[in-house]
Amino acid sequence: MSKSIVVLGAQWGDEGKGKIVDLLTDRASVVARFQGGHNAGHTLVINGEKTVLHLLPSGMLRDSVHCVIGNGVVVNLHALTKEIDELSRKGIVILDRLSISGACPLILPSHIALDQAREKHKGDKKIGTTGRGIGPAYEDKVARRGIRLAEISDSSMFRSKLNELLDYHNFWLTEYFKVRPIDLNHTFEDCLKLFESVNSMITDTVEILHSCRRSGKNILFEGAQGSLLDIDHGTYPFVTSSNTTAGSTATGSGYGPLFLDYVLGITKAYTTRVGSGPFPTELFDEVGYHLATVGAEKGATTGRDRRCGWFDAVAVKYAARINSMSGICLTKLDVLDGLDRIKVCTGYKGLGDHEATQLTSADQFEKLEPIYTELPGWKDSTVGIKSLDDLPNEAIDYIKFLEDRVDVPVDIISTGPDREQTIILRNPFDVKS
Ligand code: GDP
Ligand code: IMO
Ligand code: MG
Repeated sequence: MSKSIVVLGAQWGDEGKGKIVDLLTDRASVVARFQGGHNAGHTLVINGEKTVLHLLPSGMLRDSVHCVIGNGVVVNLHALTKEIDELSRKGIVILDRLSISGACPLILPSHIALDQAREKHKGDKKIGTTGRGIGPAYEDKVARRGIRLAEISDSSMFRSKLNELLDYHNFWLTEYFKVRPIDLNHTFEDCLKLFESVNSMITDTVEILHSCRRSGKNILFEGAQGSLLDIDHGTYPFVTSSNTTAGSTATGSGYGPLFLDYVLGITKAYTTRVGSGPFPTELFDEVGYHLATVGAEKGATTGRDRRCGWFDAVAVKYAARINSMSGICLTKLDVLDGLDRIKVCTGYKGLGDHEATQLTSADQFEKLEPIYTELPGWKDSTVGIKSLDDLPNEAIDYIKFLEDRVDVPVDIISTGPDREQTIILRNPFDVKS
């Protein structure tokens, strides 16, 4: 029988989704993205060789897997064709293995210009976006003035819509932000040219998913960003512009929620965040430095330093609730090796014993001061360990403590960046729904 699982981030992104999607894809026929765009940076390491994917699903490196870019994903044609070319050069066959929804909203150069101009204008108050035009593209989608990928195929209609949209964007760019406008002819010609190379991949992606289900094949849905960056449930306004939580799987792909069997929340054994916004457990001391250096915490998309801090069990429990999380995958356990003591945020001062059930405002979240529980660390290396029994007792106790606090079973533990460096306690495809 067909199983459908969702893999998504339980924190502020970069939890290790790419590694885990690639790993679990050995049991899936289709991997589908359903939200976000090339703001994502998903790292896969296979036999020591690293690949970073932004827009292409992380099933791309397995020949037998078909990949889908669902209607909820915002698509920049430059980014898409560049990534396809890069993988093709590595000998990976893309054609016939990638299907893209024609309903994907386009990210145009003017969206990128607007994103960057707006961030510059905000100065200290900037969100710290990836500058990829994500926010403006989603805004146009919701405002019903956006252009969808398939609309390029009717070139005269496309030109007329583009003209109207650029008129609007250029007004903002030149009159409000005082920056250069985006040229209509150049954008039009560029889109037509790039569209040619992906046109054959545009198809009815909803039907692909449903026919997969009918024929008993497994589907894996790959989330981008993380739950605390969700436009509704995250630390607003320091969030991305899409719903990053499980509900978005259905709307962003056309595969109804009752067909989903399992939601895997990926979380680091500590916490990181890139960009601005509240982060109660952030560390500015030598432990923060340890996490950043041992964990090599640099953004996979923008190369920015990631902010680092202790595991926030309250925030992950909140993520578990809003995602109906079935299981947790705990990544980067190895990064904690060698620390004497490890702290976990188990509450916030002022909230008493109550757990935070709503973390939707940055102002509210900013004021929270963590209450920590301290646990003993471990000296031995956990790098590459593949069996729970081989982990130091303190590491097992730490995992059990998190499991208990978040109240969701830890089904997978990651002990290194490579596909093989993993402990699978329960494979999501084997869990009875
Ligand atoms: P994603 O956006 O959620 O796919 O995560 P990123 O790829 O942006 O960031 C995760 C980083 O951690 C990548 O460099 C991975 O190669 C690396 N990584 C993933 N799992 C582990 C792990 O268990 N241990 C270590 N040391 N690195 C890991
Ligand atoms: P993956 O999929 C971490 C953050 C940005 C910024 C905010 C808004 O690799 O986990 P945007 O460009 O989306 O408008 O930026 O969201 N952000 C991410 N942080 N990982 C990501 O993706 C992110 N995608 C966006 O840093 O704070
Ligand atoms: Mg990333």
